[in-house]
Amino acid sequence: MNIEIEAGKPSTIETALLVLPWCQGRDGEAERPAAELDSLDDLLGLTLTRAVTGGDFGARQGELLLLYRVKGGGPDRVLLVGVGSRPDLTGERLRQVGGQAARRASEAGVTEMAVSVAADWLGGAMDLEAGSRALVEGAILGSWRFEELRSEPAEEDHGPALGSLTVLVPNAQSKRLAKRGADFGRVVAGAQNYARDLAIRPANIVNPRYLAGEARRLGEELGLKVTVLDRAAIKADGMNALLAVAAGSDEEPRFIALEYCPLKGQRPLALVGKGVTFDAGGLSLKTPQGMETMKGDMSGAAAVLGALRAVAELELQANVVGLIPAVENLPSGHAMRPGDVIGSRSRKTIEVLNTDAEGRLILADALNYAARFEPQALIDIATLTGACVVALGHHAIGLMGSDQDLVDEIRVAADNCGERVWQLPLWDEYREQVKSEVADIKNTGGRPAGTITAGIFLREFVGSVPWAHLDIAGTAWAEKAGAYQPAGPTGVGVRLFTEWVRGRAG
Ligand code: BES
Ligand code: MN
Ligand code: ZN
Repeated sequence: MNIEIEAGKPSTIETALLVLPWCQGRDGEAERPAAELDSLDDLLGLTLTRAVTGGDFGARQGELLLLYRVKGGGPDRVLLVGVGSRPDLTGERLRQVGGQAARRASEAGVTEMAVSVAADWLGGAMDLEAGSRALVEGAILGSWRFEELRSEPAEEDHGPALGSLTVLVPNAQSKRLAKRGADFGRVVAGAQNYARDLAIRPANIVNPRYLAGEARRLGEELGLKVTVLDRAAIKADGMNALLAVAAGSDEEPRFIALEYCPLKGQRPLALVGKGVTFDAGGLSLKTPQGMETMKGDMSGAAAVLGALRAVAELELQANVVGLIPAVENLPSGHAMRPGDVIGSRSRKTIEVLNTDAEGRLILADALNYAARFEPQALIDIATLTGACVVALGHHAIGLMGSDQDLVDEIRVAADNCGERVWQLPLWDEYREQVKSEVADIKNTGGRPAGTITAGIFLREFVGSVPWAHLDIAGTAWAEKAGAYQPAGPTGVGVRLFTEWVRGRAG
């Protein structure tokens, strides 16, 4: 999407659609129009004031009202988008405004829109950079569609896609801040849509080799160093847990490393993403319904690829390494069996009681491999446990970690970018649940606290690096559409990682 910043008045901007985000005042009714909007109102035949003061438009969260110009130049249409009450004005609300406006624009058959934002209007809620960033992110995320496997457009995507967005600010001095925010928003939302594209493509397209090819393509485009280990190299490196999961599939596994290192001699930040391109459960086979969204079991890998893309495009000043263990988890005559004891890169032995708890096995080897880079901090992201969906539903990432300072940094980044996290404890008492009768550890901890015992399992393979774990089982796939999120893959993690790296880069 083409993004521009323009300084000027709402009444004179030449656009097919001008978006005005609108708050409710203390009385719970739409705020009165500011005097600056008088000439715009005149072009609209005074319908703006009538709608806002007459109660037609209450500025409730998500409420929309489309008005048409009846004379003069300026915008053809004006779209009021309700924010809700002013104290609720946050980046997340503006992201929603951007998404709703983009969808409404497309319904109106419009391919270009402008959205008005000003520091005065934002008040103390946020600065112009954060405001324009959120609006741009919302518009780009809300415009995402996946059409490449259809011969005809879907019925719900009838309107044309939005091709161009202008951020309208009141004066030339505001342009610099608005542009900074819009540039960041454009890159990070583009990277998030890229992660959605990867997750929605079916497993007969996106297999481990495909993910490796995608990493190489990104590397060439953005100047990243990319290393891919094939089955033989994975074996030579001792990643036996990864190999055990891969054994059931005819698709060869891949281990992928991407390095974005603009700074000499600085230890990197390491991101690890679960790349199970399809999870049938292995011999501990899932039900047909349980498999329906399991092409998305590589959403952690997609988040890591998206984050590296965003970080490199933004040229953030931090070294970042992305690691992706990529496999397919299928049952076959070669598959690992429940009860098997397997090795791992760390040399710890693992009793596999349930072959469907495969994510933690491949992550164990990847987390152990990460130590080679002597990272400052290590974060993994994975669609790891159904228990996380039970605990937190679809509204928060499960967050755990060995280092509370790192966990707190992630919580701050989450607040800033609108991808919510909720911390769960990793108390030593839970360790009992993964004790094995025959091996160093077992890969299931029973029903109680299934998300936590998965985290406890991972921690055993991390070593002394500050580490955090993100369980996105509940947030990687949306069952229902939201304001900037169609039903389907969410690309969760891209904004969170990018925001976290930005904070680290200073
Ligand atoms: N990929 C699944 C987790 C999952 C479930 C993600 C639902 C998204 C939606 C994971 O590999 C898995 O199967 N986990 C098992 C672990 C259990 C056997 C200990 C689970 O949660 O049932
Ligand atoms: Mn599984
Ligand atoms: Zn899985």
